[in-house]
Amino acid sequence: MNNRDESLVRHFNQLLTLADAVIVTDSTHRICFVNDVYEQITGYKEKDIIGKKAGILKTKLTPVETYIQMKASLENRQPWSGVFTNRKACGELWHSSITITPYVIDDKVYFAGIFRVLEDLERGHYLDEKRVRQLQGSLLKVLAISCEIRDPGIENHLIRVQNLTELLVERHNERIDSQLDYHYTSQIVNASIMHDIGKSAIPEGILYKPGSLAPYERIIIEMHPQIGVDILTKIYGELDDELFENEFSVAKNVILYHHEKWNGEGYPFHLAGESIPFEARIVSVVDVYDALTTKRPYKEKWTQKAAIELIVEHSGKHFDPAIVESFITLYEDGSLDTYG
Ligand SMILES: [Fe+2]
Ligand SMILES: [Fe+2]
Repeated sequence: MNNRDESLVRHFNQLLTLADAVIVTDSTHRICFVNDVYEQITGYKEKDIIGKKAGILKTKLTPVETYIQMKASLENRQPWSGVFTNRKACGELWHSSITITPYVIDDKVYFAGIFRVLEDLERGHYLDEKRVRQLQGSLLKVLAISCEIRDPGIENHLIRVQNLTELLVERHNERIDSQLDYHYTSQIVNASIMHDIGKSAIPEGILYKPGSLAPYERIIIEMHPQIGVDILTKIYGELDDELFENEFSVAKNVILYHHEKWNGEGYPFHLAGESIPFEARIVSVVDVYDALTTKRPYKEKWTQKAAIELIVEHSGKHFDPAIVESFITLYEDGSLDTYG
């Protein structure tokens, strides 16, 4: 109570009696006062934190973007709401949803923050969308690479397919203005690296056989989409976490349908046109492009131009013509130059 301005307290009196934790800072974010609920939840006593910067509670688990957005709103004297992961005096994490409102009293600016504990976040760390995607992406990458560890060249192929998928999905989305949301497009990118996980169950003698395959060998190779889905189902059964729930169906579509063809002559189900899921139609183009432009034991590396010509020739046969058009724009503006 020492340094606290009583007239100021009167202004904030109503707020301070709320059942939520309340903190009031001055324009430099130094703590002016907190209410009893705040003391109870955080374990900080008002007398110990008064005059300190509100940032003492911060943790790195609150994304930097959250602070940037908060600062921008408050600088414009606009209220701001968001989610913070702070640390209590005892070191425990404290997840809360906060609304900060600027007040001008006697020409001075104050910020009043009202925190509400997010109980469902108490069980774990709060992860923002971007970190969830990154986490899912790295986990799937490790899985995909370890499934195909027998082929030393495969890691580069998988990573290039993933990068090309990202380029193509973004370009296609822009070009035809399909307004695909970020969740879906990042799921496609994450899933693309898994497209061939089913090959891990194919005998090496068939998988790496130089020259042409016997009909029964071809049948075995063509089982890799279904085998891949079996593997995926097991992996996701183990992960059994809501973080991965939505990823499953996109990954399944990519794995199961990346060898289907627009004209219905692909495998394993001979689906045609738009009955082939969009994500599989995208990956199918980049998978073939990357295979052509990479040197393999049984073939030389094709030039970018020759690979594009083949893809154009198969537009409407193997590939979705609209997706091929988007892919050509990547070729024309040089975006493919780093990929062979
Ligand atoms: Fe494949
Ligand atoms: Fe592939």
